[in-house]
Amino acid sequence: MTGVEIKPDIYWVGAIDWAVRDFHGYVTPKGTTYNNYLIVDDQITLVDTVKYDFTEVSIKNVTSKVDPAKIHNLVINHVENDHVSGLCDFMALCPDAHIYITERGRQVIERFFDLSIWDVNVVKTGDKLKLGKYTLQFIETPMLHWPDSMMTYVEEASLLISQDAFGQHLATSVRFDDDFITCASHSALEESVIDYYANILMPFGQLIKSKIKAIQEMGIPIDMIAPDHGLIWRGEPGRVMQMYLDMANGKADLAVAIIYDTMWKSTQVMTEPLVQGIIDEGVDCKVIKLRETPMSAAITDFWKSRGCLVGSPTLNNEVFPSVAQFMTHLRGLRPKDRVVGAFGSYGWGGGAVKWLYGQFGDMKLEAVEGGVEVKYKPSPEEMQQCYEYGRAFAKKVREYHEQYK
Ligand code: FEO
Repeated sequence: MTGVEIKPDIYWVGAIDWAVRDFHGYVTPKGTTYNNYLIVDDQITLVDTVKYDFTEVSIKNVTSKVDPAKIHNLVINHVENDHVSGLCDFMALCPDAHIYITERGRQVIERFFDLSIWDVNVVKTGDKLKLGKYTLQFIETPMLHWPDSMMTYVEEASLLISQDAFGQHLATSVRFDDDFITCASHSALEESVIDYYANILMPFGQLIKSKIKAIQEMGIPIDMIAPDHGLIWRGEPGRVMQMYLDMANGKADLAVAIIYDTMWKSTQVMTEPLVQGIIDEGVDCKVIKLRETPMSAAITDFWKSRGCLVGSPTLNNEVFPSVAQFMTHLRGLRPKDRVVGAFGSYGWGGGAVKWLYGQFGDMKLEAVEGGVEVKYKPSPEEMQQCYEYGRAFAKKVREYHEQYK
């Protein structure tokens, strides 16, 4: 693999990680890529580095285009380890390169690197850097998704290098969305976008809306979006922006995700009448057992569905550990625009269902009361209660969903 030209004299010089399956706890069944970009101009400029393990690959890609010692500028859009842990190796090749970074980014990298030996320049929104035929414009995007984050817009190429935003954890042999669609499908790409958003960007919906609006108001033409992971948006760059806006505005499927765990199958048995009640109301339904499902996949199913029923046994007067883990993860993602409910079983003392409703209240989610909690094994009457609750829950989900049409 050598660098891939994405615009005249602008190259993708990143690395494909076909093997990664655990990305700091986020399951990545399709691998990922670490994208960085080389602009060959009067001032040769590298935008972002890559994860440390892949620096050799990226340096080889850079070397296929230019002598790395000639790199004049190094722009750091985002300081998370998958993009900046290779910084020393790159800077060893071009020690006189000028680094451009946000102030918050500088504050992070000074904890990891000796900045006294490098020329570090702080930039903010609107600052420009003339390279020759190309001009870079920096756009800070704090908390999208880290405090340091920014994007780099290449004016004369109408190219937005967007760091993590608009990315996907998707290792592919091609670099562009439109090439991928010819060999895979729209839905596979969209699934990857939704999965990425659900697990990384869910807490930042309001920021995403305001930042996309701000970019649109800048009036800058964008005909390509080059993120730090996955495919480059060349075919329809507006499509991924619209997907982000839709998700930030609460878009979800009219569906219910039943996410549960079970000890001796009583909680599991309760899912059967719940499913029946939900589908009898004409709402789609999916059942996810937590210990059989990676956490990030469960989060994605939660996010895609307008409603979620969480089921848990009570163990030693507490919620079941895998359910507690899911709820902790979910709480950190600050979900909005979803309807929730709970159900479960217990032996000698309940409490998990009450705890779940408490969590929903703390998260300010729309909770449908009346979730069933049964002792030992659901009786036929309790199975009927589950069915009725499933119907009532699906009805509420449908009503709530109407406002998002
Ligand atoms: Fe791809 Fe926030 O790092």
